[in-house]
Amino acid sequence: MQIRESFPFYSHNSSKSNPIYLDNAATTQKAAVVIDCINELWRNGSANVHRSSHSLANNLTRRYEDARLVCSHFINAKNKREIIWTSGATEAINLVANSWGMDNLTAGDEILISKMEHHANLIPWQQLCKIKGVSLKIIPITETAEIDLLALNSLLNSKVKLVAITHISNVLGTVNPIKEIIELCHKVGAIVLVDGAQAVAHIPVDVQQLDCDFYVFSGHKCFAPESTGVLYGKLNLLEAMSPWKTGGEMVKTVSFTSSNFQPAPLKFEAGTPNISGIIALSKALTFINSLDRKSLFEHEQYLTQLAKQKLLEINNIKLHSTAKQSSSIISFSINNINAMDLSALLDEQNIAIRSGQLCAMPLVRKLNNAGVLRVSFCFYNSTDEVIQFIETLKQSIAIAGG
Ligand SMILES: Cc1ncc(COP(=O)(O)O)c(C=O)c1O
Repeated sequence: MQIRESFPFYSHNSSKSNPIYLDNAATTQKAAVVIDCINELWRNGSANVHRSSHSLANNLTRRYEDARLVCSHFINAKNKREIIWTSGATEAINLVANSWGMDNLTAGDEILISKMEHHANLIPWQQLCKIKGVSLKIIPITETAEIDLLALNSLLNSKVKLVAITHISNVLGTVNPIKEIIELCHKVGAIVLVDGAQAVAHIPVDVQQLDCDFYVFSGHKCFAPESTGVLYGKLNLLEAMSPWKTGGEMVKTVSFTSSNFQPAPLKFEAGTPNISGIIALSKALTFINSLDRKSLFEHEQYLTQLAKQKLLEINNIKLHSTAKQSSSIISFSINNINAMDLSALLDEQNIAIRSGQLCAMPLVRKLNNAGVLRVSFCFYNSTDEVIQFIETLKQSIAIAGG
């Protein structure tokens, strides 16, 4: 596969001994353009951004801000000031909870999240609700692993001030009808935060078309460095929000009694950011945009359908990923066999998949108290890898006594 040449994990000399990597929902392999960018930046000299005024620093500040422009084009934000760099989706959600949430919510208000949220889109709201006396309500899901839109409709009322929902479930793979959900929420005046951590590497995202108020994602799940991420927010919301973290570079004037903050986005970027990581993230986004995304998505869908079909041939299996609109994530359980034991057996055969609670304990506990298994494909995976996974899984089930 030609696309693999863009990933040193597959193309370097010792890649033959690398595992069959089917844990892409946890993190993706890094693109060559990303690795090259980090290498180039660190070799050519470090400097801090938005501070020093020497040429090296000015050059890096320009590249840091160019990266913001690239990112704004990538998700079709109206204005590059709507892009805030964070350390990932988790930090971006915490920022909204601690800034927008602290500023705008009062006792008696309600926040809605869905039953399929990652801990990152659950715990920040739990904490905020405790402090503010706000209720956290949960949108149920259907038997077919989809958001229950009727139930959502009945939960929506004028007390609901924020709905925080995942674009693609990291457990079920369900692609939620985000545009429709946003329209429903806006009717009652609620703002909507979309957790796009599992989306951006796989499907194009257009924040203006979705009309979401906030959209978050992590760099490491789209071929870029760890500890990089994005909070998109509509400019009017960001301008009205207080900073969450404070310190260097987010201020205009400071005295011992008070401080005056920079406008967004800098007021949300206190301290030295992950400069090289963010510039490299923009290379990953440019790389993604240079690909034939439609055919790569079709390839991922083909691999997913093939795997689902082969998995269903296995005795005593339960597929949890049953939604009609679904990405390349499949969770499943085998009756009476511990998920962790199976993933360890697969690992012994050099196949990397995920098992356990998948950072979504309330949902996974309902699916299988002891944890589930998850395979997640990316466009660089091959049909042979899917076949090998299925064969090895069958052998592992036999060893585990199934
Ligand atoms: C749906 C979803 N949201 C949020 C996160 C948190 O991402 P990060 O750990 O990169 O902040 C993840 C990570 O697995 C995820 O799958």
